[in-house]
Amino acid sequence: MIQDKTDIGTFIEGLPKAELHLHIEGSFEAELMFKIAERNDISIPFDSVEKLKKAYSFNNLQEFLDIYYAGANVLIEEEDFYELTKAYLDKIHRQKVVHTEIFFDPQTHTDRGVDFDKVITGIHRALEEAKKNYGITYRLIMSFLRHLDEASAFDTLESGLKYRDIIDGVGLDSSELGNPPSKFKRVFAAAAKAGFKLVAHAGEEGPADYIWEALDELKVLRIDHGNRCLDDEALTKRLVDEQMPLTLCPLSNTALQVIKRMEDHPVKRMMDLGLLATIHSDDPAYFGGYMNENFMAVAEALAMNKTELAQLSKNAFTASWLSPAEIAKHHQAIDDYVASFGI
Ligand code: HPA
Ligand code: ZN
Repeated sequence: MIQDKTDIGTFIEGLPKAELHLHIEGSFEAELMFKIAERNDISIPFDSVEKLKKAYSFNNLQEFLDIYYAGANVLIEEEDFYELTKAYLDKIHRQKVVHTEIFFDPQTHTDRGVDFDKVITGIHRALEEAKKNYGITYRLIMSFLRHLDEASAFDTLESGLKYRDIIDGVGLDSSELGNPPSKFKRVFAAAAKAGFKLVAHAGEEGPADYIWEALDELKVLRIDHGNRCLDDEALTKRLVDEQMPLTLCPLSNTALQVIKRMEDHPVKRMMDLGLLATIHSDDPAYFGGYMNENFMAVAEALAMNKTELAQLSKNAFTASWLSPAEIAKHHQAIDDYVASFGI
């Protein structure tokens, strides 16, 4: 049966959603980048927003990261981090995202001489405001850049300890190939000891072995991406048995050519195998869409029905760091929403 695109679009727009894989620096829209660059008197090597956006064409993760770090260069003041985060939260509020667990990359800023305090204070102010004004709940995850060394990650952890009441977890991102999770085993152990929850990007471009390492050596609670787990039957079985969340990002995967065509995206296969798959936006300003666009992309390409889309959203709440009572409340809201469609 051919699905009614408008009908599915309407369903997705109103579906309560949780975002668990979002780099706040990756939500930096070109328009805001130009505005902040001008305010901080920093030049961008593009004449216009249109020309900058034309450069958003990537053959792999590294090509994207080079542009992503260049864009983040214009963020200097607390106000810049506040505006960046506020713009993201305003956007997701319109998309019916009611809970978000966001990454920020301290080293992207501290390595340029920007104070850790300015970064976190700006982000946190916007999050608190959105909680008050929109009722959006949140968690904050400080992510280590894996292309940098262990000592730099330890310095970052040290800075984060001062904000232990604001930062809920630590993550691992940036250039995956050649930077296996094991490189950060000791930092993750120290972070766990300090009470941080743990996640890591693994199996995006890197092999299934990196997912094993993230599980066994870092002891993470979620795998970010994890697409490559399907290369390894024993690993897939373990992920199913443990109901380990995999935070998938479909538009990121096609933009970075991790997956050639959306029709090849493994999310539906993963659900059929019993994996706890979830859908998120990763770096929406660069990859062509926020949560709704990601849901729509898989719904269309894989002909997913409303029940399957609702299950994906429920999975994200299950995988979130909300309390069991809050998770149950969100699951009920989704069930009620689905029922309102006569399903
Ligand atoms: N992968 C790895 N590191 C990242 C990404 C990503 O998609 N976005 C920002 N840092
Ligand atoms: Zn990511």
